[in-house]
Amino acid sequence: MTSFPTRRLRRLRGTPALRRLAAEHHLVPSQLVLPVFVKEGITSSQPIASMPGVSQHPLDAIADVVDEAAAAGIGGIMIFGVPAVRDAVGSGATDPDGILNRAIAVAARAAAGRLTVQADLCLDEFTDHGHCGLLAADGSVDNDATLEVYAEMGVAQARAGADVLGLSGMMDGQVAAVRAGLDAAGFAHVAILAYSAKYASAFYGPFRDAVESTLQGDRRTYQMDPANAREGVEEALVDIAEGADVVMVKPAMPYLDVLARVSDRSNVPVWAYQVSGEYAMIEHAAAAGLIDRERAIGESLLGIRRAGADVILTYWAVEVAHWLRAGK
Ligand code: PBG
Repeated sequence: MTSFPTRRLRRLRGTPALRRLAAEHHLVPSQLVLPVFVKEGITSSQPIASMPGVSQHPLDAIADVVDEAAAAGIGGIMIFGVPAVRDAVGSGATDPDGILNRAIAVAARAAAGRLTVQADLCLDEFTDHGHCGLLAADGSVDNDATLEVYAEMGVAQARAGADVLGLSGMMDGQVAAVRAGLDAAGFAHVAILAYSAKYASAFYGPFRDAVESTLQGDRRTYQMDPANAREGVEEALVDIAEGADVVMVKPAMPYLDVLARVSDRSNVPVWAYQVSGEYAMIEHAAAAGLIDRERAIGESLLGIRRAGADVILTYWAVEVAHWLRAGK
């Protein structure tokens, strides 16, 4: 005789209405953040070949990007600058007339409180060698000398009007250094998003095109080893102790275990960055007809959410916000 199951978990999957009722996790527009690339010296937006649908924008286009993002109801934009000139110490990063600081000012004015303006705080876009910090005479990245520049960069970004500073350089002590710099300059209210568990990842490949990175070699002496998860938790705890308002795990999809562990241990918000390579993989696979684009995007974001992210930085932020508002 056949024995019939008494536990029938399929009951709650039978109709769209039941599935909606039973959903444990949701995406919401206000918890998506759009990365935005601003390039000095261009007059119209330039598509980035490795990231279909993403462009570098001229300063003049930023107010429109902000309006579009605000209309979609997303939580913020994260701005990256692509300067026309780079030097050994990344002078453009601390210069109030540098492209990133100017873009922050334009965005903050356009946003007028409708969404947050966030800025990448790192030197790699501004240095001619492409590293995230200053180089010592022997060519190594000089952690402590870099901290002073980060503190100065943080003050410049705060002065330009940024609400949240995204510290992505992976120098030890960077949160404490930037916090002290901000507080001393009268910017105690500006929040720090620490890219705490940021891994040395191949998935940043398309981003390096987006910012026209000049890096030779790699970032393995400062970004994390993909082999390590426990260390990612420690990075987050150290950043929280130094004063981080938010901690982040990056990339997202290959590090969902780290995200879950950090989320279990953190008492501050935990965000995740769905990086350029994660974006490009889905776009290119969908363009080749290999996967359903919208379902893959939705599933990738829900997975990040399920693993423990409160907020997700994603190049699909505006598009997904429109879907959500349309009830998709
Ligand atoms: C550093 C920075 C990088 C990304 C965000 N901030 C590049 C890197 O560390 O090499 C990557 C983002 C992406 O791949 O989408 N300024």
